[in-house]
Amino acid sequence: MTSTERQYVSDLTALPADFTWGVATAAYQIEGAVAEDGRSPSIWDTFSHTPGKVDGGDTGDIACDHYHRVPEDIGLIKQLGADAYRFSVAWPRVVPGGDGPVNKAGLDFYDRLVDGLLEAGVTPFATLYHWDLPQVLQDGGGWTVRETSEHFAAYASQVVERLGDRVKDWATLNEPLCSAWIGHLEGRMAPGLTDLTAAVRASYHLHLGHGLAVQAIRAASSDARVGIVNNLSPIEPASTSEADLAAARRADGHINRWWLDPILGRGYPQDMVEEYGVELPLQPGDLETIAAPLDWLGLNYYFRQIVTADPDGTAPHARQISVPGARLTHMGWEVHAEGLEQLLLRLTDEYGVQRIYVTENGSAYEDVVAADGSVHDPERVRYLEEHLAACARAVGKGAPLAGYFAWSLMDNFEWAYGYDKRFGLVHVDYATQRRTVKSSGLRYAELVREHAGRREGRTAA
Ligand code: IFM
Repeated sequence: MTSTERQYVSDLTALPADFTWGVATAAYQIEGAVAEDGRSPSIWDTFSHTPGKVDGGDTGDIACDHYHRVPEDIGLIKQLGADAYRFSVAWPRVVPGGDGPVNKAGLDFYDRLVDGLLEAGVTPFATLYHWDLPQVLQDGGGWTVRETSEHFAAYASQVVERLGDRVKDWATLNEPLCSAWIGHLEGRMAPGLTDLTAAVRASYHLHLGHGLAVQAIRAASSDARVGIVNNLSPIEPASTSEADLAAARRADGHINRWWLDPILGRGYPQDMVEEYGVELPLQPGDLETIAAPLDWLGLNYYFRQIVTADPDGTAPHARQISVPGARLTHMGWEVHAEGLEQLLLRLTDEYGVQRIYVTENGSAYEDVVAADGSVHDPERVRYLEEHLAACARAVGKGAPLAGYFAWSLMDNFEWAYGYDKRFGLVHVDYATQRRTVKSSGLRYAELVREHAGRREGRTAA
């Protein structure tokens, strides 16, 4: 590592001694093997095979071939020094019919993965839904219908009954905002709809599915620790004009409050119910189900949003503007670590959350493999350090932050952007499936070691 990569070294001493250092992935982004051992198609197989939906026509058919490379990939997790691994379970692999019998071969895959992780001393954090809805359920209405919430809880129960003796930390959903808003309103993700009514109904059934799954997980495993993973953004108005201030309030409702309030027992924000003008398919008892008590909340953080009023746009009639002079990642996302600190403090102070994990945080850059085979990614090193420093500052101000999961363990299928956008701490050569730990991965391992050293120092003192 060069000295330029060390200039962002941050003070992480505020992080608690038992801080969890993790890395994260998701099934469709890495597994491949889409037609093996009884897996059925998901909405992402359909979407990615639809011409024009994914850059370069890329699909998750092979991805990182993780399905066939679990021992090697667990070795990488160890090499990065991570003590936890957040992965997702593919619903169409485990219950190919969407509802009904378990596919034993599919569940066996996760059984082997979990055993391998535990043997390696890595704690598994499993997410039950990271966007890969069985296509057969989409054909019946997907998240726009109530039955999908019920099927989700049944599937959750089947997974937890098998793995719950070894997996203790469960997330129900990953980023339901993306499923509902990007998948049903903006059409940039599966299932590719642009329909506000469908989007609002999907958001509601995702929440209901979450609540029902919390009950199912607890019924199947009495010592499970259950959470949900939301992607949030601090929202700032582009100006102090009344129109921009109101737009920022609506954007905050759309991006943050809609996803936090019902889960945390506050019900749906009334201003947003009015903004959408779509009747929620509420049934008696649903709000209580949706607000089932949780053990932790997962925060995925990538960027803040500065917004201006957009009367001609769709709900929430607010448009993100670019920030002049901002540092951008290959996604075009602004690097703004302070936003992570702000969100952690908001969850703590405004929502009273008692235990938080940063379940994803990371950056895409145009990495190149050098002649000597190494991958030198100083911008990602800097990003990582700045965001970990933001975590430490938030902890110093009282945030109950229990861990951080870097996105991602390795380069993978970045949804509608295909393979061009690389988020990994480990580089993947898709032609050969060769994995190379990047400088950022080496730096991550170093930070984990330094933290462990301080932990031992504290114990010895
Ligand atoms: O790759 C995604 C992940 O699946 C969900 N959170 C954001 C990441 C980067 O876009």
